[in-house]
Amino acid sequence: MINPSPTSAPAPRVPVVIIGAGPAGLTVANILRAASVDCVVLETESREFVEQRPRAGFIEEWAVRALRHRGLADRLVERAQAHSECEFRIDGEQHRFRYATLTGDRHFVYPQPLLVTDLVREYAVKGGEILFGVRDVALHGIDGDRPTVLYTDPRTGERRRIDCDIVAGCDGARGVTRAHVAPDRGTVARYDYGVGWLALLAEAPPSSDCVVFGVHPRGFGAHMARSPEVTRYYLEVAPGEDPENWSHDRVWSELHARLSATGAPALTEGPLIEKRVLDMHSYVVEPMTYGRLFLAGDSAHLVAPIAAKGMNLALHDALLLADALVAYYLRGDADGLRGYSAACLRRVWEYQEFSRWFAELLHGPSSGDPFRAGSARARLRRILGSPAAAATFAESYIGKVTGPMAMTTP
Ligand code: APR
Repeated sequence: MINPSPTSAPAPRVPVVIIGAGPAGLTVANILRAASVDCVVLETESREFVEQRPRAGFIEEWAVRALRHRGLADRLVERAQAHSECEFRIDGEQHRFRYATLTGDRHFVYPQPLLVTDLVREYAVKGGEILFGVRDVALHGIDGDRPTVLYTDPRTGERRRIDCDIVAGCDGARGVTRAHVAPDRGTVARYDYGVGWLALLAEAPPSSDCVVFGVHPRGFGAHMARSPEVTRYYLEVAPGEDPENWSHDRVWSELHARLSATGAPALTEGPLIEKRVLDMHSYVVEPMTYGRLFLAGDSAHLVAPIAAKGMNLALHDALLLADALVAYYLRGDADGLRGYSAACLRRVWEYQEFSRWFAELLHGPSSGDPFRAGSARARLRRILGSPAAAATFAESYIGKVTGPMAMTTP
């Protein structure tokens, strides 16, 4: 039990402080704890909140293998549905795309709140400590060899301090740790997709046994199962669109239009329990480290939810960072830490480039630009018609990255 001291008293020291209890932070915490590397997790929200917050839900099979290898995927493997194909709908026609046949890998449909719940529970079983509800987290001395993390204790309102060797910045897109890397010590590369996505959660069973991409002149539409009772839908809208402009009837009318195809079952409607407009943009912080601060997950890079890459990148970073920290603390081997940022960024840019390429296929036909529309249709015809193009698309879609970007640890 870390008993962080008031700033006036000498502070306890722990090897690693992890900021953020999302997929990235909790994966790092569990792997460190399993290797008896002491750490503490600081989380601004409550446990209840992080365990129910609807987010992503498609985990690539390489990540499932890696989590399973570390004893972190038992419930996931037991409960998740595996998807081996997706479907494109265009001009009233259905086109199944069997990516598992081409790659041998599948997606595991497992809502992020369930993964977070599993990781929190597993960490507690290992005796790990998460301080929930903290406020005003601040980092000091990360460019030296004795970083300090300060925060306000939610129960007493006291400022508390923990000394450490390493800070893992896993506090997501709205966190505070990224600011310590950029702008004067690195770059933040940004891309704006120029569209919005109306993100919907329907209290309705899935209307297809796979992900459906509706490519339509009026705008892109998507269907993605989340659980037997809840389905995620997306509708391309103008950037900055007000979700209140989208009534229940207007949403379902547009989803039927954009996802219709001859022979396809009609969508099963239901109450909309989430309706918000995503500003479709991405960013990448380079490098992902500064001094004793190591960023992992959305704190370092945001990928627009084009092909469900966000959580998979967060897991990739976290696995690399945790393995590097274990090597450092157990064997004095700092190579993994030295090479961490470059190793993460190879896959980050692979996923960013694919997401941008795929987005053009989905958004081109509704861009209002005939040249983009024609090019996007050609892109879709190619991956549906050419075995070589299909294989390349399938590898990127499921994250089956080979060569130097391949996941070194299983
Ligand atoms: N102090 C402590 N905790 C913080 C702070 C802060 N200043 N700011 C944010 N947090 C917490 C958030 O409450 C959240 O629980 O950090 C956690 C970050 O988790 P995520 O946002 O889930 O980020 P990450 O772990 O990188 O996972 C990325 O989450 O947002 C989705 O689509 C994204 O699927 C991707 C995944």
